[in-house]
Amino acid sequence: MSTVIVGGTVVTAEGTYRADVRVDSGVISAVGLDLAGPADTVIDAAGRHVLPGGIDVHTHLSMPSFGTETCDDFYTGHLAAAMGGTTSHVDFCIQPHGASLAAALDLWHAKAAERALIDYGFHVAVTDPRPEVIDEIATLPDLGVTSIKVFMAYRGTLQVDDAALFSCLERARDAGVLTLVHAENGDAIEHLMAGAIRRGETAPKYHALTRPPQLESEATGRAAAMAEVLGAPLYVVHVSCRGALDRVRDAQSRGAPVTAETCTHYLFFTADDLDRSGFEGAKFVCSPPLREVADQDALWAALRDGTLSVVSTDHCPFRYDTQKVLGEGNFTKIPNGVPGIEERMMVLHHAGVNGGRITLQQFVSLTATAPARRFGLGGVKGSVAVGSDADLVLWDLAREHTITAATNHGAMDYSLYEGMRVRGMPVMTLRRGEVIVDNGRLVAAPGSGQFMRRRTGG
Ligand code: URP
Ligand code: ZN
Ligand code: ZN
Ligand code: ZN
Repeated sequence: MSTVIVGGTVVTAEGTYRADVRVDSGVISAVGLDLAGPADTVIDAAGRHVLPGGIDVHTHLSMPSFGTETCDDFYTGHLAAAMGGTTSHVDFCIQPHGASLAAALDLWHAKAAERALIDYGFHVAVTDPRPEVIDEIATLPDLGVTSIKVFMAYRGTLQVDDAALFSCLERARDAGVLTLVHAENGDAIEHLMAGAIRRGETAPKYHALTRPPQLESEATGRAAAMAEVLGAPLYVVHVSCRGALDRVRDAQSRGAPVTAETCTHYLFFTADDLDRSGFEGAKFVCSPPLREVADQDALWAALRDGTLSVVSTDHCPFRYDTQKVLGEGNFTKIPNGVPGIEERMMVLHHAGVNGGRITLQQFVSLTATAPARRFGLGGVKGSVAVGSDADLVLWDLAREHTITAATNHGAMDYSLYEGMRVRGMPVMTLRRGEVIVDNGRLVAAPGSGQFMRRRTGG
């Protein structure tokens, strides 16, 4: 099967230029002028930009949490992703207590296999760090899994202690595996939450007030220090505040192998959104919590200066009508997490590129090229380059769209971005050379997304 995409403007992390793109057997075989020649399919991209498909390295599909399960599975979540121009993702496989990491991965493979529309990989979250589980980290690369996740918060369910984090970092380093960390001081947060509930402070806004930025900054610094001591690669997920950015920047300035991401919602919303009328604030409950405008400004600056190299979603969708309401009368029971897999590319492009905060090249780097390189997919995904998978999105810079839950495609009943008007959106999505979304219409079959075996040393 061959395809030529003609007349478009190619965007990579390095530059923007007029070029046709030729695809053979799902892989980009040529990028250049006047490639129109014999091909099974010719796609007219005149007036369109040709970008690498988005890669979202932080998602939670079909994840048990807070006594319920995230409402998007590997079909509805993938549908939403593809509609928004995302062609692959790395999801968090959560080790059930008592299970091996391999058994946990089997569970997640079963969730994905028959349903997938886009390509997917797994990080495995080590939640029960018995010695034999720590030993198992060395075997993950053989399973195509080259990143683990450690939680420093969510005491009683996901959190592990410093000894376990240190061991994980060390063993992951030795195996060429990247350690991801959720950096918040879970013990101090537990104390603050219990105090709030005792005082009758039960509304959603207390979620943010009991997870202050100092406790994210402290945990970020602690994890970075361990990584520096061990020379172990560390990736800090969902950085939300200035203090945590400072810790990441400090570590990087000393040459420590520390990288970090932020997530879309931290660039758009603040703790004030948790105080919306009624119980609406529950829609904005995620951890770390939304911060202040000054933190947003610091995050944008960090995206520009490279302190942060990735924007992911932390797509962790819980419906408002049946799931967020579990925390009515007690904010500690509101399932933590917000959706964004469909909106990420559009809202980041609009606020970032149209808003003059980042360039189109930086947009491509943050959403595709850098995540591919960091997560063992460099040269395979994340760029419009010869030899890479033809995961491509045709972007119309002029087309406008109003984001609303009613026209989104996942299983969610709300969008954080409800009513937001964006300019610039995907009009066609290709995965390994195959059109999967054409002008808002899904044309891929469930099960056509593939598991991505990732390399070590990303
Ligand atoms: O609130 C969030 N972020 N929920 C998802 C799990 C996590 O901490 O990433
Ligand atoms: Zn246990
Ligand atoms: Zn987290
Ligand atoms: Zn997450």
